[in-house]
Amino acid sequence: MTPAVEFIDVTKRFPGAAAPALDHVDLAIEPGELVCVLGTSGGGKTTLIKLINRLHEADEGSVRVNGVDVRDVDAIELRRGIGYVIQQSGLFPHMTVADNIACVPKILKWDRARIDKRVDDLLELVHLAPHEFRDRYPAQLSGGQQQRVGLARGLAAEPDIMLLDEPFGAVDAITRKSLQNELLRIHRSSGKTFIFVTHDVAEALRLATKVLVMDAGRVQQYGTPEELLQRPATPFVAELFGART
Ligand SMILES: Nc1ncnc2c1ncn2[C@@H]1O[C@H](COP(=O)(O)OP(=O)(O)OP(=O)(O)O)[C@@H](O)[C@H]1O
Ligand SMILES: [Mg+2]
Repeated sequence: MTPAVEFIDVTKRFPGAAAPALDHVDLAIEPGELVCVLGTSGGGKTTLIKLINRLHEADEGSVRVNGVDVRDVDAIELRRGIGYVIQQSGLFPHMTVADNIACVPKILKWDRARIDKRVDDLLELVHLAPHEFRDRYPAQLSGGQQQRVGLARGLAAEPDIMLLDEPFGAVDAITRKSLQNELLRIHRSSGKTFIFVTHDVAEALRLATKVLVMDAGRVQQYGTPEELLQRPATPFVAELFGART
């Protein structure tokens, strides 16, 4: 099967940095996985994500989405098929909640009724009452509510691949648990590929079909939660999971 996302010997250096942000990364993510990415701060997780939707470009090696090198696809076209949800939510401040969520469906020229229904369904999904929240602006929402709208926006056009970079950082434990449940349900029912960065080992073990551990720009291990727990490939992985128990 063609991997949904593939890194072939990818290195990424930022100007002036002492060490590469990604250092000869090889990785193949099969379609339908929910990959949780764990690792220390500065380990290269966000860089990995941004190379997939071409917010950054590799210095060496090849990043492929559905078998095609991302450099061979128009960046805008590429991003239409990839949902992207970040911690800071990235909402457009001058647009209402509904218009933020409707962004990609509008570009795709869905009809008005279909867009309205999708917006309401997604607001329900992330536990924001549509009649109350549709017409608000991002500045009129709490941080956690903004994150939930960001999640809804990422899901709007049912992209093949969802990239989620610490999307639940600003929500309380109860909301987080319910968003995790929603995410699991959406993932399991959609069959789409999700790549989810988190600092929370328990969250990763709960959600992941595969866990990817990154440190110092290198893949430490990629495998099922059981594999990583039972057969950690490096001392870093052992410590990451050992620290929990
Ligand atoms: N635009 C940039 N310019 C220069 N250096 C950068 C840039 N973006 C990231 N870096 C550096 O690349 C390395 C990897 O950063 P990255 O954001 O991928 O880490 P991360 O694993 O996502 O960390 P965190 O858990 O803190 O979000 C870090 O050393 C960082 O300082
Ligand atoms: Mg990051």
